[in-house]
Amino acid sequence: MAFDPDAVLRHFGQAARGYHRASTRFPWSWLRGREARALLRVVGPVEGRRVLDLGAGAGYYTRLVLGRGARDAVAVDLSRAMVAEVGPERTLRLVSDAASVSLRRRFDLILSAGVLEFARDPVAVLANAAVLAAPGAALAALVPVDSAGGRLYRSYHRRHGIAVRLYSRESLGGAAAAAGWRLEATQRVWPYTLVARLALAKA
Ligand SMILES: C[S@@+](CC[C@H](N)C(=O)[O-])C[C@H]1O[C@@H](n2cnc3c(N)ncnc32)[C@H](O)[C@@H]1O
Repeated sequence: MAFDPDAVLRHFGQAARGYHRASTRFPWSWLRGREARALLRVVGPVEGRRVLDLGAGAGYYTRLVLGRGARDAVAVDLSRAMVAEVGPERTLRLVSDAASVSLRRRFDLILSAGVLEFARDPVAVLANAAVLAAPGAALAALVPVDSAGGRLYRSYHRRHGIAVRLYSRESLGGAAAAAGWRLEATQRVWPYTLVARLALAKA
């Protein structure tokens, strides 16, 4: 199945209303909570950090880091309907492609949660993130892995005409290296998530 950005936009546009609410309800809240704890463990303290959330969706992680003391955030998503769901507090909301969004500001922490699997060119997303990163920045990536759970997740999205890319530690590390990042730490979250911290290769 080929990558189809229109299918991604259509699906997430339709899912936007109620997306955040659904992520706070069981069973999704259970998985989300475990992924969020792993992400916070992997990135460390977020207090005072300037955050860029690429593929922010309805802002689950934007809210999380602001709630933990991040200074402010820019939330970027392809879907206007999703961006409209992100809370405005200390957040600039932009409808744009993570692979090409251009900003004057630079960021200490860049989030890419549940996005690289949908991107036509994940290396382009990571390379653009490297341009937007301040010296010493970290990038937190959350991707689905090639496990039984990951394959179920892929089948779920296939029903919406979306081809989802599944990762391993090695394939994520390879994409990171091609885009100017190095993989510093990873954590697996059952059943299908890999959380990783990337640092700029030329720090
Ligand atoms: C699975 S959702 C995750 C949203 C959010 N990060 C979260 O964890 O709740 C994926 C989001 O990525 C967005 N997306 C997919 N490809 C994108 C791209 N190339 N640039 C920006 N956003 C993208 C979709 O519109 C969707 O809102």
